[in-house]
Amino acid sequence: MRLMWKMLSGDCLQDLNNSMDMAMKLQLFRNARIFTPEDRGRPSSGNNQSRIIRYDHGAMVVREGIITNIGAEADVLRAIGGERFIDEYDCLGRSMIPGFVDPHTHCCFASLREEEFELRAAGTPYLEILRRGGGILSSVNAVSKATVAELSNMTRDLVLRALKLGTTTIEIKSGYGLTTEAELKMLEAIGNTAQEVPLDVVATFLGAHAVPAEFRDRSDDFISLLIEESLPAVKKQGIAKCCDIFCEEGVFSIDQGRRLLLAAKSLGFSVKIHADEVHDLGGAGLAAELGAISADHLLAASDDNIRAMAKAGVVANLLPGTAYSLRKPYARARDMIEMGVPVALATDCNPGSSYTESMQFIFGLAVVNMEMSPAEALVAATLNPAYALGIAQQVGSLDIGKQADFLLLDGEGPAVLAYHAGVSSVQEVFKKGVRVTC
Ligand code: NIG
Ligand code: FE
Repeated sequence: MRLMWKMLSGDCLQDLNNSMDMAMKLQLFRNARIFTPEDRGRPSSGNNQSRIIRYDHGAMVVREGIITNIGAEADVLRAIGGERFIDEYDCLGRSMIPGFVDPHTHCCFASLREEEFELRAAGTPYLEILRRGGGILSSVNAVSKATVAELSNMTRDLVLRALKLGTTTIEIKSGYGLTTEAELKMLEAIGNTAQEVPLDVVATFLGAHAVPAEFRDRSDDFISLLIEESLPAVKKQGIAKCCDIFCEEGVFSIDQGRRLLLAAKSLGFSVKIHADEVHDLGGAGLAAELGAISADHLLAASDDNIRAMAKAGVVANLLPGTAYSLRKPYARARDMIEMGVPVALATDCNPGSSYTESMQFIFGLAVVNMEMSPAEALVAATLNPAYALGIAQQVGSLDIGKQADFLLLDGEGPAVLAYHAGVSSVQEVFKKGVRVTC
């Protein structure tokens, strides 16, 4: 923790130390306009996707980082009665929302790919760049030369920028290794990052992110290698909680996805899929069949498979930063919500198809380009991704028993995140009751 603070800014150090002491005591956050998703014990879908509890003059009590009371200020003050030694924080009437939960990132990498963005802007398709050995494979090349320390330094910088922009929980995938050794190196870097930042970090093994050159015409053999060698090694290392695969034309098929993810499930990993991003291969259907925690992208998913996801309760992680950067039509969030699929939003932060660590930017794209209401987008950026990562008991909404992870916004409510474009409306970020930005 200390390390991170020195990096953020020397001036913050004293502030942090005070905050750390404060967090050990009972804290009262008062004079806030509170907006929080209603947690009904499962991901919110359909009409519940927009269910927000609101206290116009609200307060929250926090003991050792955990919320012990929240509601209208008058009620909370009455309930705490004569409680003493309380640290009081005036939120100055600002809007309070839960910290963002970003459920899909590739923010462990060793180099940027700005030249590919220019190529795409000039008309070269994303998958064509990959076919030429660029794209994901160029990130693989850079990671192969990087040390664990270099990788964790870059990842930590990105994650801290995300934190300043309001992300308090983040998923990070491996996937630029593509050998057992390099994937373990990435996961070690992600594990180190998790120790050095105040965010909660969930690691995902994405060994099946691209077909390595040496397996070009025998991708089945690569899947066998992942099952027989990589998965057991990743399990033994103990950092990754989930296993993911990129099912796409020219990458991995649905059958290969099924084989790998069934093996991952049998080892106790939660499974998720990069599904139907460019072509409708049926990844959404596979996610439903396997009871995946999420299916991600879904730009090309069919109605039948979306309905299957709704029936199976699979969260749709939508990644509008990718549609923006690849100049593609956005995922059909409106249809998905109407068909009963719980929708979550993520940055997909990566050096290729979506170079952003800002959930605020994603929130804005969802409201403006995907016909989501600000209330739906708030649920999609906090509670539903917490379910998609299997950690909704700890984070994702401001409820008694959950962590006091929250943001104070410069605006009358969450809509400001889309309304005030191109700037950060997050003024302060708190993780477990500790102010982590200055
Ligand atoms: O989610 N689609 C596959 N994987 C990433 C892109 C990774 C990259 O281009 O480096 C994604 O968009
Ligand atoms: Fe991705």
